[in-house]
Amino acid sequence: MSDPTPEASSTIAVTGATGQVGGRVARLLAAQGATQKLIVRDAARAPKLEGSTVIQVKGYEDREAMVAALTGVEVFLLIPGHETAARVEAHQVAIDAAVAAGVGRIVFLSFVGAGPDATFVFARQHGLTEDAVRASGLPHTLVRMNFYLDVLPEFVQSTGEILGPAGEGRVAAVARDDVAAALVEVLTCSGHDGKTYELTGREALTFSEAAVCMARASGRPISYRKETLEQARLSRAHYDATDFVKEGWITTYTAVAAGELSEISGDVRMLTGRDPVTLSEWLPTHPLALAHVDTLG
Ligand SMILES: NC(=O)c1ccc[n+]([C@@H]2O[C@H](COP(=O)([O-])OP(=O)(O)OC[C@H]3O[C@@H](n4cnc5c(N)ncnc54)[C@H](OP(=O)(O)O)[C@@H]3O)[C@@H](O)[C@H]2O)c1
Repeated sequence: MSDPTPEASSTIAVTGATGQVGGRVARLLAAQGATQKLIVRDAARAPKLEGSTVIQVKGYEDREAMVAALTGVEVFLLIPGHETAARVEAHQVAIDAAVAAGVGRIVFLSFVGAGPDATFVFARQHGLTEDAVRASGLPHTLVRMNFYLDVLPEFVQSTGEILGPAGEGRVAAVARDDVAAALVEVLTCSGHDGKTYELTGREALTFSEAAVCMARASGRPISYRKETLEQARLSRAHYDATDFVKEGWITTYTAVAAGELSEISGDVRMLTGRDPVTLSEWLPTHPLALAHVDTLG
């Protein structure tokens, strides 16, 4: 952790504040007395927080509104948008708007292994946005998240099965609370320019191990069944989603199988001063996380 600098009293722009991570960041910043602009798509759903001004835009792709929203901002937190094929272009518009508005620095929430070689197709998109952040010429910090620990229970179907082509690969998933706390440190303190951080948990679990952990915590029968790539494509064929999104879901698992999400980093501890939470610590504090799983399997 670094000492807060005078930046702590300058304006921070937080995007994604109607969502999980951006909302947590906004609440933590408000608790520290920060001055922030919450840039959202629906002002009615923005958190109402002391010291914050809510600014509604159509989206990152709304250049004019983004420039106006970012004017007078010292630090800009760019939370990646929902997973669409077009989001890289939308992020580019937001970054260009930050340059035009004279923002002091950008913090981008990226993904572990972001880049053209990533198995996880959404991480390839994050790699392109990282390139755009670097090319902006603005001081910046890339904060790469692993999969959210909070999402692992959502992988469990109502039958109690986790189905996917993850083999025996490991995932060092990180809780959203830890991601938000680390982001707040980067947003409010100096010394982070030019750095890339990797936010992971402090253990890397196989899906079999995660299933055992979730079964123990919930008292429900939960297990992991490996799929082949072909089985994974077939079992997801009936969902009403684009091919791009389905490939994103499947490569969530194949990236784990390839070992691309298994590395454990000490960056959460270094940034926040505390250890990241583990799945077995997190589950008892979220008793409804597995309520969708049938007790009889
Ligand atoms: N690491 C992981 O396991 C994982 C899992 C899921 C997603 N993610 C990624 O991480 C991001 C943050 O996670 P989260 O849990 O906070 O997601 P979330 O709860 O879905 O929040 C996403 C936020 O981004 C905003 N947003 C989406 N598209 C936008 C656009 N084009 N322009 C402006 N704002 C936009 C949303 O606004 P609205 O409320 O108006 O929609 C929402 O406030 C997600 O958006 C996604 O890219 C990571």
